[in-house]
Amino acid sequence: MSSEDASEQSAAQGSTPGRGTALVTGASSGIGEAFARLLAAEGFNLVLTARRTDKLEALQASLANDAPSMEVKVISMDLAEAEGAQRLCEEIDRLDIEIDLLINNAGVMTRRVLMDTDRDEIQQLLTLNITALTHLTHHFLQQMRSRDYGRILNVASIAAFHPLSGADIYAASKAYVLSLSEALSAQLQGTGVSVTALCPGLTATDMIGDSLAKTVPPFFIQSAEVVAREGFDALMNREAMRISGQANNLALTWAKHQPRWLIRGLGGMMSKFMQ
Ligand SMILES: NC(=O)c1ccc[n+]([C@@H]2O[C@H](COP(=O)([O-])OP(=O)(O)OC[C@H]3O[C@@H](n4cnc5c(N)ncnc54)[C@H](OP(=O)(O)O)[C@@H]3O)[C@@H](O)[C@H]2O)c1
Repeated sequence: MSSEDASEQSAAQGSTPGRGTALVTGASSGIGEAFARLLAAEGFNLVLTARRTDKLEALQASLANDAPSMEVKVISMDLAEAEGAQRLCEEIDRLDIEIDLLINNAGVMTRRVLMDTDRDEIQQLLTLNITALTHLTHHFLQQMRSRDYGRILNVASIAAFHPLSGADIYAASKAYVLSLSEALSAQLQGTGVSVTALCPGLTATDMIGDSLAKTVPPFFIQSAEVVAREGFDALMNREAMRISGQANNLALTWAKHQPRWLIRGLGGMMSKFMQ
């Protein structure tokens, strides 16, 4: 058994902490917070990042209570700023922290269509959802490849599979995340490094809010904790892609066999629920 396997096994048995260090972006709420709690319970040290320092510090304090032997570092950063991802990489390198798991989770959705969205908002969405994720992947992938060990999970969405006329830029940004992640996963076959795309459907977080949650049948909405668990399992299995939840898997399997014009039309109808 390799030392990596041994440490994973002992951590899974709850005996020894220290399976490595995970960087979680967008850790201040929702799916990112659920990932942080799960990873701490699984024995990982953490680097948590987002803009809201108060939320990150509250999470850090709560994790220190639950898992006192874990190291949890908070680095506040706006990843929608042009230099945000680079500054985050520099800070982690300066602190000499080796990242074994990267959870690229931070993301935003706009409910406005492209032509009603101003340039600043478009720029911020693209920088956060696409550029920052790409730069963080690039930076830590190089380090992981030189050690031949590491895992990256990029949070895409089921919106990655089809155009959503009412959430056009968001769905397109997630299609980018899915495509890049699957390409990297194929490139890295046979190495000690893997990239996984996680595609959640509707998840009960601040992003969808209460009004959308009330218009959709409950079986289509998952909790952030369940989504993070699915993502973690897929990451540890080095899967290329995981769609979370049975209802989402069924819906996407059905959609695979439908003509594109129908899918475009349904995407438009679904978007109306999101207004
Ligand atoms: N909820 C869903 O139905 C759903 C479905 C599919 C995919 N997803 C994806 O899941 C991921 C997490 O979203 P969520 O549902 O958990 O929503 P959320 O609760 O709103 O979390 C979004 C996270 O991203 C961070 N963030 C936003 N803008 C940022 C910025 N400029 N710089 C750094 N961090 C920023 C937020 O922290 P701060 O505000 O503190 O910066 C927050 O921690 C996103 O990529 C989203 O696209 C969500």
